[in-house]
Order: sequence, then structure tokens, then C-alpha cells
Amino acid sequence: MLQLRGVRIAGIARYAPERIVTNEDFERWLDTSDEWITVRTGMKRRHWAADDQATSDLAIVAAGNALAQAGLKADDIDCYIVATATPDFIFPATACIVAAKLGAVGKAAFDVSIACSGFIYALTVASGLIRSGVYRRIMLIGAETLSKIMNKQDRATAILFGDGAGAAVLEACDQDGFLAAELGADGTTPEILYQPSSGTRNPVSHAAIDAGMQYIHMAGREVFKFAVTSMVEATEIALRKAGLERRDINFLIPHQANRRIIDAAVKYLEVPREKVLVNIQEYGNTSSASIPMALAEAVEAKRIGGGDVVVLVGFGAGLSWGAVVWRWNSIGPQGASRP
Ligand code: ACO
Repeated sequence: MLQLRGVRIAGIARYAPERIVTNEDFERWLDTSDEWITVRTGMKRRHWAADDQATSDLAIVAAGNALAQAGLKADDIDCYIVATATPDFIFPATACIVAAKLGAVGKAAFDVSIACSGFIYALTVASGLIRSGVYRRIMLIGAETLSKIMNKQDRATAILFGDGAGAAVLEACDQDGFLAAELGADGTTPEILYQPSSGTRNPVSHAAIDAGMQYIHMAGREVFKFAVTSMVEATEIALRKAGLERRDINFLIPHQANRRIIDAAVKYLEVPREKVLVNIQEYGNTSSASIPMALAEAVEAKRIGGGDVVVLVGFGAGLSWGAVVWRWNSIGPQGASRP
């Protein structure tokens, strides 16, 4: 029976691996410079996973911290969802591994694969599952180890991507945090941003590896062109669906792909700088981890308060895009009645 109720974020946490790669580090092996990277992207550093760290290893650290914040145990969660473009394996789903490593066996678990839009899509799906009464608590994680699938000799992509994880515990409550979402995709030219040899179109082979098809391939300028428009349009449509306007935005969490993309979108949306979280200088582009990591940082810094209208907006491979409008509630075990 459809049982409508609200959803809140009861815990939100992040993790980035210890290894830090600076712009100056790249100067040692690539024809690039700190100045080029800083001016064109806003990035200064990024974190890369250790050789023995896979995506699930990053995810469980963030998820463990989010659980502690929410005052919950792994077994209290009904469903685990991991948004990722860099799963431990194509199958099984990384969410199964994460749940088991956290000590929750027998719960629902699945991945959402839509690259950098992953957390926005998964937040929409998870909120729907809770608001319609299917589940009471969901662990939602955006986690990536992009450093494992990029060509570190390709200056056009190697400088852009970092590794990390952000985890949110979603929980049923009386006051609804989810106000609206706008999701979209256009798969007519997937090769604008893709990993050519990763699935069944170009199965892994010696020839594919010799041609470098196991790495991220990207037409940067094409992605750039669509990024600003898609973030602005998704935000405006989602706000309209929520019955709100640009001036109602109290805080904006954009996908951290390029400082210039964020600046252009923020300028168009007329959101004051102090109401926008930018941490691209520290993490680079962490794909589906970027939005939950930025949200966790904003919450840690107390830049978001109860009742604030928060817009989360991203874009990525697909091409794909999405925005969620969220009414912020208090986190932690208190502040909302546990049904
Ligand atoms: N250092 C120095 N020079 C470089 C580098 C580098 N690291 N990379 C490229 N260049 C050169 C190019 O070769 C080119 O040289 P040329 O003029 O002699 O041909 C010149 O710099 C300009 O290249 P552009 O690609 O036009 O540079 P642009 O200003 O567009 O910046 C960038 C490139 C940063 C990749 C930008 O296009 C961008 O950010 N695009 C969006 C990428 C993105 O957001 N991707 C993630 C999507 S999310 C997901 O799903 C994973």
C-alpha cells in the first residue's frame, strides 16, 4: 500500500584517500603547469587511492562515519545504494560488497551507474523509496576511484580526476526534505565522455588495451559547452517543480568538475558566492562522490542550517544531468521523530 511520508538526511560524511597529487607533481611527468591547471580548472590538488584501495574501501569509511553521526548501526539500514562509475567490478554491485563489509548481510543493495550525475539520480530514487514507504532507512553513497581508469600520461584527463566517497543516511521522518528533482539524459553521443573498453561494446582484449581503450576518453570542450546550460536548466526546472525561485536558494552544491563551469552557472543563477560550496581546489573532479563530499563539508562547516533550501546539481557522462531541491533538516539521532 502506498504510504506517503517525509525523508531527511540523518547523517552525512566523506572520505578522501591519503595520497595527494598536486599540480606541481604533474609537472614532473606531463607537459603541463600549475598555472595552466589552476586557471583552466581551479584545481590544485586531488586525492588518489592507494594501489590496494578499491571503491568499496573508500565507501565504507564514509558510510561508517555517516552511520555514527546518525546514531545507527549497519543493520538498521534497509537498503544500500552506491552511485559509481568506477565499481570494484562490473558485477556484482559494489553496494553488495559495501553492505557486507559494514556487517549488514541480507539487506537490499544495488548500484546506480550514471557517472557524475549518480548521486543526484540515486538521491531521487532513494527518496522515492522512503517517501512511498518501501524502506525506512537507506544508505546512499557516491564513491569513485577514477585514478584507476585514467591514463596518467594524458594531460587532458589525468589532471582532472580524483578519488573519494561521500555517504548519506536517509531516513523516514514527518517533515519532508525532498522538495523536487529534475533529471535528464541524452545518449546520442556517448563517446563524448566514456570508457571505451569496459563493457560489451568493446570487450577487454589485448588489442583494446594496446589502443588505450581501458581509460577515460573525453571531448573536454564538448562537455564544457553542455555543462553550464544543463546545470542552470536543471536547477530552474527543479525549483519550478518545488514552487520556488532562484532567490529562494539558501545554499548551492554544484558538481565539482571545473571552477569555470561552476562560476558561470552560479553567475547565471545569481546565487551569492558565500552560498556556494567549492572544494575543487582540494579534490578535483570525484564524479559521483563530488556532491555528497561537498554537502558533508558544508554541513561540517555549519554553512547549512535547519530549514535552508539546498540545491544539489550535477552533470556528467551520458550525457546526463540532474538537480534536487532539498529542505534541510537537522542531522543526527535527535531532531526528528524516528518512526
Ligand atoms: N596542460 C597544458 N595544456 C593542456 C592541458 C594540460 N593539462 N590539457 C590540455 N591542454 C592544451 C590542449 O592540448 C590545447 O592545446 P592546443 O590549443 O595547442 O590544441 C589547449 O590546452 C586548450 O585545450 P582545451 O581543451 O580547449 O582547453 P579548455 O579550456 O577547454 O580546458 C578542460 C580543458 C579543462 C578539460 C575543459 O574543457 C573542461 O573542464 N571540460 C569539462 C570536462 C568535464 O567537466 N568533465 C567531467 C564531466 S563529469 C563526468 O561524468 C566524469
